[in-house]
Amino acid sequence: MFRVENQVSGKVFQTDGVDAILDDALLHGCNFPYGCQKGICGKCKATIIEGEVGYPNAIYDGISPAEIADGMALLCQCRAKSDVVLVVAELDSVADLEVRKLPCKVERIERLNHDVVQVFLKIAAGESLQYLAGQYIDLIHPDFEPRSFSIANAPGNSSLIELHVRWVEGGKFTDFVFHKLAAKSLLQLEGPKGDFFFREDSKKPVILVAGGTGFSPVKSIVEHAIATKLERQIYLYWGVRDVPDLYSDLPQKWADEYENISFVPVLSEPNATWQGRNGFVHQSVLEDFDDLTGYEIYACGPPVMVKAAAKTFVECGMIKDNFYSDAFVFAFTEAK
Ligand SMILES: Cc1cc2nc3c(=O)[nH]c(=O)nc-3n(C[C@H](O)[C@H](O)[C@H](O)COP(=O)(O)OP(=O)(O)OC[C@H]3O[C@@H](n4cnc5c(N)ncnc54)[C@H](O)[C@@H]3O)c2cc1C
Ligand code: FES
Repeated sequence: MFRVENQVSGKVFQTDGVDAILDDALLHGCNFPYGCQKGICGKCKATIIEGEVGYPNAIYDGISPAEIADGMALLCQCRAKSDVVLVVAELDSVADLEVRKLPCKVERIERLNHDVVQVFLKIAAGESLQYLAGQYIDLIHPDFEPRSFSIANAPGNSSLIELHVRWVEGGKFTDFVFHKLAAKSLLQLEGPKGDFFFREDSKKPVILVAGGTGFSPVKSIVEHAIATKLERQIYLYWGVRDVPDLYSDLPQKWADEYENISFVPVLSEPNATWQGRNGFVHQSVLEDFDDLTGYEIYACGPPVMVKAAAKTFVECGMIKDNFYSDAFVFAFTEAK
């Protein structure tokens, strides 16, 4: 194994010398820029400050012999031959990301509870979607207007996209997803979209507030934080109606495994046997924190929850610039 250090971000990861350096960087949660992953576009170029890299295959147009002689490398193609120190400006803003329309195929659909399914979309061969943890995509099908869904997995495996889709009563597209969409169905996605993404340059402790399937982008953020060995404290609150709506046991597992992650489920309409917190999820946050001044807060889910959090958290000292949100507003346009 070799050690790779990005001198710009200070991030360090291991690579085996068999996989491309870019693959291992993404696997370890580094937001290295890339495009084609075929050696053509040149977007993954980096400067090697120390160490040696090699190319097992022919080098395509993404880098010139003169650039290689100057110490540059195409990270999607090269393998480490020793420990490496390199210089890459990692993506930390949505302005760095290209919004693309990509064909994709449903790989599988799994039922998570009575009204939420997990949809895995495989992007067409050789393509991938680069995004930041927390962002969303629009799903495009010829019979419907585009519908927005947050990406639930961390950016490491960007050719497979995980979504959590809640069935909406009378909802045309979500009904289609529940009753007609199947493995191998073809769709298009457009993304990445939205400015709800995890700010990695901050040192503030983080409060994540999810409502219902608002857990989806929060999952992406926490999985990314774990992959990057983030040490900041993470307080995760997940508000749902009743126990069956807590459709994932991951939050409790994270809290059990990682000292810097805590989890509080909050039920608004609990059954009689529930012993935990109840009420609205934002109220539980307010009960636990006297002053929100020093925190970075991410809230995602139903518009009414996000609005209530924004208003009441400011009254409790939250600095507006430290509040990031995605409200799951509906597409008002009628399906064809
Ligand atoms: C940025 C963003 C990210 C989103 N991410 C997710 C996600 O990760 N998972 C997810 O499940 N949803 C998510 N949503 C919400 C999702 O886009 C809608 O639920 C979906 O578009 C509904 O489509 P539909 O065709 O089934 O409903 P429509 O046919 O458009 O609506 C049917 C009826 O249901 C109402 N309605 C529509 N959506 C909802 C809703 N969400 N809740 C309650 N009533 C509704 C409408 O007002 C209308 O009366 C997100 C929305 C946005 C804007
Ligand atoms: S990502 Fe296109 S050349 Fe490496």
